[in-house]
Parts: sequence; C-alpha cells; structure tokens
Amino acid sequence: MAFVDWYPNYSVHNALMDRHHQELFQAINQLREGVLEGNAEDALDRSFVFLDDYVEKHLKVEEDLLKEIGYPGFSEHKEQHDQLREQIEIYRKLFQSGKKLEAANLMAFLLKTWLVSHILTIDRQYGRYLVDHGLETH
Ligand SMILES: [Fe+2]
Ligand SMILES: [Fe+2]
Repeated sequence: MAFVDWYPNYSVHNALMDRHHQELFQAINQLREGVLEGNAEDALDRSFVFLDDYVEKHLKVEEDLLKEIGYPGFSEHKEQHDQLREQIEIYRKLFQSGKKLEAANLMAFLLKTWLVSHILTIDRQYGRYLVDHGLETH
C-alpha cells in the first residue's frame, strides 16, 4: 500500500482533473519514498520541485476550469487553494534553507492530508455541479 492512494470515489467527473489528482498522489508517494530512503540531495530536489510545480499547475488549471463553467463556488474554492499555496511557501523556504529531508517530509504529509480532504469535500462539490449540468467528461 502506498503512502497515499487514489480511489474511484475520489472522482470529480472530469477526466483531466482526475488524472491530475492521481499524478499528484504519485508524486507525493515518490517524495515520501525519497525521504524514507534518505535520497541523495539532487534526487530529493527533483521530487520536491516536481511536486511543488505540479501542485501549482493543478490549482491553476482547476481554477480556470471552474471559471470557464461559471461555477458559483469559485471564490470559496480559490480561497482554499490560496491557503494551500501559503503553506507550501513555508515548506519551500524551509527546503531552500537546507533542511531538505524535514521539509520534504512535512510537504508529503501536508499534501496527503490536505489533498485527500480537499478532493473529497470541495473538489467533489464541483464534480456534482458538472454532473448536474451535463458537463462531466467521465
Ligand atoms: Fe481544488
Ligand atoms: Fe483538485
């Protein structure tokens, strides 16, 4: 069993967003494995930066999608994303200060708990909106 797994009930009925969520979980698992194996700095750097970039990419694409469909809960959703961005900024700075294993571990735990609860509650709300408006892609 991986550190974090994606299950079909996490679906938000948009194929691209589900793929992003799955890839984020994979990247979190990879970062966590790197921490447990005491990865060499450059490998840990790559995993950390990849995950950091991928989170931002996902949040942005998801926000663009919500705007495009005229989602009524957009501001509340964006606010949650912005709170995550602020927390990540703290761990990014810690990582850059040289406390790499500690920062990577905190980042993996933050993203695991944050993403699972965010997807299951607030992301799935737009999933229902997509279905209700015939906009689901799967
Ligand atoms: Fe979201
Ligand atoms: Fe999401």
